[in-house]
Amino acid sequence: MCGIVGYYGKREVSPLLIKGLSKLEYRGYDSAGVAILSNDGDLTITKCKGRLANLEEKLEENPIHGHVGIGHTRWATHGQPSTVNSHPHSNEKGTISIVHNGIIENYIHLREWLIAEGYKFNSETDTEVIPHLIDYYYDGDLLSALMHATAKMEGSYAIGVVSTYEPDKVVAVRKDSPLIVGLGKEENFIASDIPAVLSETRDVYLLKNNEFVVMDQDGVRLYDAEGRRIEKEIYHVTWDADAAEKGGYEHFMMKEIHEQPKVIKDTMTSRIVLDQPINLDNITISKEQIEKLSKIYIVACGTAYHAGVVGKYAIEKLARISVEVDIASEFKHRDPIIDENTLMIVVSQSGETADTLSAMRLAKSRGARVIAVTNVVGSTVSREADDILYTWAGPEIAVASTKAYVTQLIAMYTIALYFAQNKGTLTTEQLEAYKKDMLELPEKAEEVLKNKEEIQKFASKTYMNKDMFFLGRGLDYAVAMEGSLKLKEISYIHSEAYAGGELKHGPIALMEDGTIVITIATQEELFDKMVSNIKEVTARGAKVFAFAPEGHTEIEEAVNAVTYIPKVNELFSPVIAIIPLQLFSYYVSVQKGCDVDKPRNLAKSVTVE
Ligand code: G6P
Repeated sequence: MCGIVGYYGKREVSPLLIKGLSKLEYRGYDSAGVAILSNDGDLTITKCKGRLANLEEKLEENPIHGHVGIGHTRWATHGQPSTVNSHPHSNEKGTISIVHNGIIENYIHLREWLIAEGYKFNSETDTEVIPHLIDYYYDGDLLSALMHATAKMEGSYAIGVVSTYEPDKVVAVRKDSPLIVGLGKEENFIASDIPAVLSETRDVYLLKNNEFVVMDQDGVRLYDAEGRRIEKEIYHVTWDADAAEKGGYEHFMMKEIHEQPKVIKDTMTSRIVLDQPINLDNITISKEQIEKLSKIYIVACGTAYHAGVVGKYAIEKLARISVEVDIASEFKHRDPIIDENTLMIVVSQSGETADTLSAMRLAKSRGARVIAVTNVVGSTVSREADDILYTWAGPEIAVASTKAYVTQLIAMYTIALYFAQNKGTLTTEQLEAYKKDMLELPEKAEEVLKNKEEIQKFASKTYMNKDMFFLGRGLDYAVAMEGSLKLKEISYIHSEAYAGGELKHGPIALMEDGTIVITIATQEELFDKMVSNIKEVTARGAKVFAFAPEGHTEIEEAVNAVTYIPKVNELFSPVIAIIPLQLFSYYVSVQKGCDVDKPRNLAKSVTVE
């Protein structure tokens, strides 16, 4: 996790670092710090526990003037959040400072070795070995010292380094943690993610693993691990800087919920077009390969996993290929059966989730083909997968995923239809009908968003509860899981999702007077069964809040409150049904006074296993 930034240029560095870090706070926010080469040649560090605002305050009290620096916002892995564990970390003499995102897996061994060499450690972090290693190898060339140091390190890292030995320079490297270079005029930046530099430049280098960067008065130079110069294409960011701003909304989450009609549309554009075959430009898997597929694994974490659950329903139904959905952190530890007729679909908003990457690498090593569904161009999954289907959600800043999820659903449906088209499991008429129904989704999503008041009322009646349950059957169960995750993530209310049919096998024991149960019943064939489940819980005193498709007014007599959602083809209903649940969690979180966009203990991108 964590976010890093760095700057070399002519402007005052401190405000630029803070501005960049403010765009990376979604990556971690338990402490923050900067290291600045001040105009008088000193290397000064300011860091503190807590949000970036604390650091800003400290820097206002004791400003540091300089034009070269690095900064960090932390999500603790090794060592609790504290000032001493915050980055930047330095060598003993205070001549070399670094910021790090990732984990140095062999740090204990390196630490012992460095201690034996006379080095002293202050923090509990894995990171602190890095400045000492650079110090150990420094022989007049900072880049070469960083190269030697990384050669000793196992694990993942994006590292930015500054030093009084070479005060007009920032050096950096990445391996398995993201890093980009922002290219300005007589100034350049490094950052964990594009939004950190977007107010300053739209031209970036997307670095690959083991690529090193030097930023100094001569501009930016890139090197491979053997020290050879490399050239790279400039990636021009086309999305609007506003996409990474709140745009008048109180929270990023609300803004992102409202962007859903647009991003659903964007993710379908040029792919789902009536009377034209589905066109997936970055997917090269052939018709013959699709026909031979014996098994598909969809592997992901968190919200992306829930999109995978919907993907299973869609692919099995439309393309008649057997699909297993796995939580990435479990997948690789269960010796899965994989051969050359296996396809893995990895779903990852960030494209950097460590468990997802490991699962993908395992599948590839055993001969599987991999399709990546990701939102980040140039991310690790996009580079390592055989095929890529980008979700065009734009930058998602709120830690709780909303718009990325609906675009992942669209990607799942698109893949299912594409496979069905190739395998001939649907007639042309059926395919066209599905496409037509999909194309209606943006408009239907817009309709749901008009109905916010009812959901807000519903949240104000329930936000004081300590537990809530979500029930659904079939695809509604997948939605229930995602709805429940949203609630616990941002409101800290304990919640569980159950498949309606499982109720009698345990969860019903939890039902008592006043228990809150949220039900989703969009599947026609399962509607009556869901109503039976509702009656079973209300008979035990539960209060039921239902989400049902327009027209099903008979549900009113069985529940305490109902919110109707626009009718769509029920295969696609998760795209629409999740929106009121996202809004519900949002309003509960706001009523409880929680930090909606930056919930405690969570991070947007989990780059450690
Ligand atoms: C974290 C985030 C979730 C996200 C999950 C997977 O837990 O807080 O919102 O769903 O990681 O992230 P990915 O980037 O792989 O989709």
